[in-house]
Amino acid sequence: MFKISSLTAAVLLATVAVSARAGEVEVLHYLTSGGEAKSVVELKKIMQAKGHTWKDFAVAGGGGDNAATVLKSRVVSGNPPAAAQVKGPAIQEWAAEGVLANLDKIANAEKWDSLLPKAVADVMKYKGNYVAVPVNVHRVNWVWANPEVLKKAGVAGMPKNYDEFFVAADKIKAAGLIAVAHGGQNWQDFTTFESVVLGVGGARFYNDALVKLDAKSLNSDTMKKSLETFRRIKGYTDAASAGRDWNLTTALVMQGKAGFQFMGDWAKGEFLAAGKVPGKDFLCAAAPGTANAYTFNVDSFAMFKLKAADAQKAQGDLATAIMGTEFQEVFNLNKGSIPVRLNMKMDKFDDCAKTSAKDFVDTAKTGSLVPSIAHGMAVSPAAEGAIKDAVSQFWNNDKISVADAMKAITSAAATK
Ligand code: BGC
Repeated sequence: MFKISSLTAAVLLATVAVSARAGEVEVLHYLTSGGEAKSVVELKKIMQAKGHTWKDFAVAGGGGDNAATVLKSRVVSGNPPAAAQVKGPAIQEWAAEGVLANLDKIANAEKWDSLLPKAVADVMKYKGNYVAVPVNVHRVNWVWANPEVLKKAGVAGMPKNYDEFFVAADKIKAAGLIAVAHGGQNWQDFTTFESVVLGVGGARFYNDALVKLDAKSLNSDTMKKSLETFRRIKGYTDAASAGRDWNLTTALVMQGKAGFQFMGDWAKGEFLAAGKVPGKDFLCAAAPGTANAYTFNVDSFAMFKLKAADAQKAQGDLATAIMGTEFQEVFNLNKGSIPVRLNMKMDKFDDCAKTSAKDFVDTAKTGSLVPSIAHGMAVSPAAEGAIKDAVSQFWNNDKISVADAMKAITSAAATK
């Protein structure tokens, strides 16, 4: 007779149990640069360790516009992925279509309400039910710099305001290097623009103009000054920036070809993936005039309704993994962001991340923690897209006057 030992039986049973529960999880994301890819692979590893199959659906394109287009066609054709990198008000729009899964069973069991800042949890919920899971907090209002370039050009330190910034930029230009590394895509123009508005006008003005879309603020002297400053920065970029990806732009700073880059802290993920050391090989500082303010950008995965039980199980395990301390640490160490889960230990994180974590808490208290409009956190995707286009047209066409740009931005802000 065929005999099996009790140990073998236990192993067999366990295997059967795992495979009965294991499913495939298809994840649509735009995490394709060096640092981004390193971070998303951590999620894949965790899911594979749980016995699930990871189906990677990466759509290249910084800022996620391409991914959003691909997602739309998948959902419209009735074949959504299990999870997609979607954030901010776009989560509400997808939920209103009735295509997102209700994650409350898991969220309640794991007490997500107590693990997340309330402002973040609210964005993840539709009509009080969790439909998305947050992975991180990115700060957008950063400037990155190459200390060697600054030294060569005779720049003493990171500029604290725009007067200092332009003095530094002139010196770098005079040294024959690119003062501002800038990539040529509308979302990159918009990223720089929102940091300039924050630096010139302060958090309250930013909030009125770029979150509330108040017409008076959009047509004010402060907006005029912001646009003038923004245009002035363009004079320090190189002629080859058109169409350039953000990570190739970061590489210019890394290679000592350029001094500064305005970019969110996913740029730090690039420096780290290339083995660069913060404080030594590269510097981070709040964008000029913004040390006491914080534009936040919370990446998250929206979970779509699935039919098969094993796929639902895999999706639930993905949600649990994302909220877990293991993932929140390792993902964010690679991504350049900080964990969104509260009370995480920060000892493995570098000083840029520690500054970000401290400023996130401090600015929340002073009311200068504001959502990034350029990164899908502040207004509807339709208004965001229209304002982004108006800002980019101004950046790319020196013939457009500041007054006309203000008009164009104001009418774009009314887009529904
Ligand atoms: C996302 C980041 C991403 C960056 C570049 C931002 O909108 O929040 O996660 O790294 O775009 O693609």
